[in-house]
Amino acid sequence: MSNHAMAAAAALTTFEADAAASPADVVRVGVIGYGYWGPNIVRNLGALDNCRLVTVCDKSPAALKRAGRAQPGVHLTTDFSDVLRSPDIDAIAVVTPVWTHFELAKAALENGKHVFVEKPFTSNSAQAELLIDMAARKNLQIMVDHTFLFSGAVRKIRELVDNGTLGPLYYFDSTRVNLGLFQHDVSVVWDLAPHDLSIMDHIIRERPEAVVATGGNHLNGQADMAFVTVYFPGSTVAHINVNWLSPVKVRTTLIGGRDKMLVWNDLEPDEKIRVYDKGVNITAGEGLYDLLVSYRTGDIWAPKVDATEALKSELGYFMDCILKNETPMNDGCAGLRVVRLLEAADESLKNRGKIVVF
Ligand SMILES: NC(=O)c1ccc[n+]([C@@H]2O[C@H](COP(=O)([O-])OP(=O)(O)OC[C@H]3O[C@@H](n4cnc5c(N)ncnc54)[C@H](O)[C@@H]3O)[C@@H](O)[C@H]2O)c1
Repeated sequence: MSNHAMAAAAALTTFEADAAASPADVVRVGVIGYGYWGPNIVRNLGALDNCRLVTVCDKSPAALKRAGRAQPGVHLTTDFSDVLRSPDIDAIAVVTPVWTHFELAKAALENGKHVFVEKPFTSNSAQAELLIDMAARKNLQIMVDHTFLFSGAVRKIRELVDNGTLGPLYYFDSTRVNLGLFQHDVSVVWDLAPHDLSIMDHIIRERPEAVVATGGNHLNGQADMAFVTVYFPGSTVAHINVNWLSPVKVRTTLIGGRDKMLVWNDLEPDEKIRVYDKGVNITAGEGLYDLLVSYRTGDIWAPKVDATEALKSELGYFMDCILKNETPMNDGCAGLRVVRLLEAADESLKNRGKIVVF
């Protein structure tokens, strides 16, 4: 055994001896990946009552140094097998680049750990199906980080749709544009659209029928702007605009229903959602060409939106799901639905907007 391996083994033994057995109401978690997003996961895990943050793993010593400063006392390692082999870890959060999600999540499940995987779940649907199957056979939970589902705004929108305030939905139209951050391994569709697609999936709750995507790649061979349209079996249409080449940052979603319409501007500090009592009424006249169109403009109101950090709610819910052995709403199947849409968008993009039917 090399000096390095011996030191690592000794450190692991000490760490295992130090760790107490898991009480029934706490999940012990290891995090892999402490780059851009990992610190947010670690910070929130560290503050939860139903979680004990045990280990942070990153192959970069500089990243681990930052993690150690942020979470003094937490076990740090550059070797993922430390996390996999530890009997003191119940669940692993995979917060690494997309192309690594499948192998790391698979290894976690093989070692009997529940997994929290960043969006997008995997690089293709075959990988997602395999992980879902493996977790089901081992009675382990998978949660895919569809962070926005836990934001106060999306929870309020879902409530307004579910309680019939908006009426039947006509459209969902989401714009998520800014300058950068260019990713090296994925296009803007795989980087940004998982947010919008997961929100769309959560709110519309119908299975899409077809996807059309157009866009362009100007700088590094990956699409850096794209317009994705998703058709549903009823008359609901969703449209998603994602762009890394925008001079300004926009995070706005319009949702139009028969009875009310709303605008969600996520950059607004207050009044993120405005509901408009606006609409169009059509009444038939006597003849075929006698349709009468009238426009309704009523009140505008801004419902109260819970300001709790979405990631905190999401991670707390993940711990609850593990402790109660319940399937999370953003499980592997939710992750797979988004990956299928991303694959369809890729196929359509490659063929300049060819319709891809499911
Ligand atoms: N939910 C959200 O809102 C949100 C926001 C940003 C990023 N993300 C997702 O988070 C994931 C990570 O993105 P990022 O921007 O933080 O990436 P990043 O490149 O900044 O960080 C990834 C980290 O993982 C480490 N790493 C990679 N492979 C490893 C391995 N095998 N063992 C140990 N460490 C390893 C790297 O050293 C790096 O520090 C991506 O899937 C991304 O889509 C989600």
